[in-house]
Amino acid sequence: MGKQGTKIVGIDVGDLIKDLNKAYCDEWLAYYAYWYMAKTVTGKGYEDISEFLAKIAKEEEEHAGELADRIQELGGLPLANPIELEKNANAPYPKPPKDTADYDKIIKVVLDAEAGAIEVYNKLAEKTKDKDHATYQLIGHILSEEIKHEDMFEDLLE
Ligand SMILES: [Fe+2]
Ligand SMILES: [Fe+2]
Repeated sequence: MGKQGTKIVGIDVGDLIKDLNKAYCDEWLAYYAYWYMAKTVTGKGYEDISEFLAKIAKEEEEHAGELADRIQELGGLPLANPIELEKNANAPYPKPPKDTADYDKIIKVVLDAEAGAIEVYNKLAEKTKDKDHATYQLIGHILSEEIKHEDMFEDLLE
């Protein structure tokens, strides 16, 4: 990042890069789990839930990309090795259920992951508010999409 762009950040930049990298890991784990469940879900009316999962998977991948860009603007690098994703994430891998037709479990996996993401981004928003406008804006954008994801899947619960 440009010198001035880093200088105006009012919190420890190394710390912030670490936080953003943890969220970056969460995003890839969510992406993989959602993508996988979208591909493998079976049962009656599976197309709808598959479509929903594919849609949010795509958004998690976008979040990973946006975080990677911001990490680099701040002078860092996103995690290079996928084997280290879970170890460096905020939460464990949102593990798809063995039964590919168990919608309730699939929905629970998504809702747990989204609740975790909402908490992480809310904390990051509080941390960057009035300190780092660029990161704050990005986090607000991601947070609003995580809130939408939770809402979408909550609506699927009967
Ligand atoms: Fe996300
Ligand atoms: Fe999400």
